[in-house]
Amino acid sequence: MTSIDDTRIGVEATPLAAALGAEVRGIDLGTAGPSEATTITSLLLEHKVLFFPGQDLTLDEHLALARQFGPLEAHPNLKNPNLDHPEIFELAASAGGVADEWHTDLTFLPSPSVMSVLNMVTCPDIGGDTMWTNLVMAYEALSDPIKDLCNGLTALHDAHPHGRSDKMAVHPVVRRHPETGDKVLYVNQHFTRRIVEMSHAESEALLGLLTAWVTQPRFTVRYRWTQGTIAMWDNRCTQHTVLNDFEGERIIQRATVTGDVPEGEPPRWSPWSPDKIGALTRHDRQLLRYLRSGTEPPPVATQDTEPPPGLAGQQH
Ligand SMILES: [Fe+2]
Repeated sequence: MTSIDDTRIGVEATPLAAALGAEVRGIDLGTAGPSEATTITSLLLEHKVLFFPGQDLTLDEHLALARQFGPLEAHPNLKNPNLDHPEIFELAASAGGVADEWHTDLTFLPSPSVMSVLNMVTCPDIGGDTMWTNLVMAYEALSDPIKDLCNGLTALHDAHPHGRSDKMAVHPVVRRHPETGDKVLYVNQHFTRRIVEMSHAESEALLGLLTAWVTQPRFTVRYRWTQGTIAMWDNRCTQHTVLNDFEGERIIQRATVTGDVPEGEPPRWSPWSPDKIGALTRHDRQLLRYLRSGTEPPPVATQDTEPPPGLAGQQH
């Protein structure tokens, strides 16, 4: 099915799956300005991930395009050995760079990027596809009791996959998309460590359910790359993963647009705390480190709740 919107003369967006994703033709991204950026933003809100084959942008054109959507940020943890420009993050398979766990980019930051703009520089003839999942659809498909439980929970994210477990942030388990108002299931396998308000065992069970839930094929699109394709995705309501099934080189370059603070319903419960000292798991100790670092999550909605033992005197 092909959809052509009259307000986007000459622009053709072909949906690739029922859940999300469209291939777009009729825009030269090498010369895109504010008017094209408005069109792309509108398509992105509709389809969540867009693919523009055959663009073959230079590094400067890639940067100029991404800047149409806001200020850019360098990758906070990983460096580019071969590139001068810090705002472009390059990932090469030959250097061990394959993001093959489901994730939303940079959720260990207090303000994860709002969107990513990726240039497929080199791709294998076969394999190395990327999948995206629609986190609005995943949330809406949950049963009412699980939805109710998830609203008002928060989760700790960290940069452990980059060897930086000290970089942490707490976000709502269900965030609201700031432009559409949609509710988004906002935990991911790669960066989310535990639910703040639950014991480790409870957190493992719930995160196991939710992170598996979002990967159901009915919520996803799978894209087969060609060299020179530009992809853009709304990082506030999607996750993605690379299929690590290929041989040979695969190089992507990514620019990320500076993020916003995810907002959801206020926490309905106090943070978990141990009822005794000792026998804590690694994840328990990490959560306590975060809670005691002075960057605790916002106060619980019920103001008459007492601070949990061990956290008395802390702001929370
Ligand atoms: Fe990613």
